[in-house]
Amino acid sequence: MIELQNVWVEKGDSILLEDVTMAVRKGEFVYLIGPSGAGKSTLLRLIYFDERPTRGRVAVEGRNSDAIRDRDIPFIRRKIGLIFQDFNLLRDRTVLDNVAFALEVTGASRSTLHRRALAALAAVGMTQKRNEIPDHLSGGERQRVVIARALVNEPVLLLADEPTGNLDARATENVTEILRNIHRQGTAVIVATHDATLTQRSPHRTVRLESGKIKGQ
Ligand SMILES: Nc1ncnc2c1ncn2[C@@H]1O[C@H](COP(=O)(O)OP(=O)(O)OP(=O)(O)O)[C@@H](O)[C@H]1O
Ligand SMILES: [Mg+2]
Repeated sequence: MIELQNVWVEKGDSILLEDVTMAVRKGEFVYLIGPSGAGKSTLLRLIYFDERPTRGRVAVEGRNSDAIRDRDIPFIRRKIGLIFQDFNLLRDRTVLDNVAFALEVTGASRSTLHRRALAALAAVGMTQKRNEIPDHLSGGERQRVVIARALVNEPVLLLADEPTGNLDARATENVTEILRNIHRQGTAVIVATHDATLTQRSPHRTVRLESGKIKGQ
């Protein structure tokens, strides 16, 4: 599903990623770990074509960084759910509208959009807060809305960058459980984190980055 072959990302004199080769299979769960500045976010950005390699090649769902045209990028991104730390929720919209807003607009009726948004909110246990605005939620609750928003288009791949970064132990466990459930339903999940407690007792594959290089996978 994802293949990085001898990928380099260079900016001026800085080498952000150096000769990275890795693959992620359909439906796999992978933790991407490594210290701050190791290149984890850069690697995730390559996978949704927000960043292009300066050398090597990135292939995602049959699309290839050598060949993909800018206008094709939105199509591949539709298959990818993004969970990033800056929550980016719309402050003047309810939880339900935030999630419904992320749905592809295909001429579906408002009631259809809301039905699908409610299903995504149910998956993260946020049905009861559907009419709140994000400012009235805790950090963990906001993060669950962000996850619902990423799920609503039924992505084949979910990319999460420090999804538990600002959360306490209980909220972290909660978000982790939600990600495991998504994975159980067949979605490939890649979680970038420097939180070792997340990976210690995890059965999932761990890929370690250090100074832009893979140090174990
Ligand atoms: N546009 C840029 N130009 C030059 N260097 C950059 C640029 N963007 C990121 N970097 C550098 O690339 C390195 C990797 O950054 P990246 O954000 O991928 O790390 P990270 O592993 O996600 O770190 P963190 O755990 O702190 O989120 C860092 O040293 C960063 O300063
Ligand atoms: Mg990062």
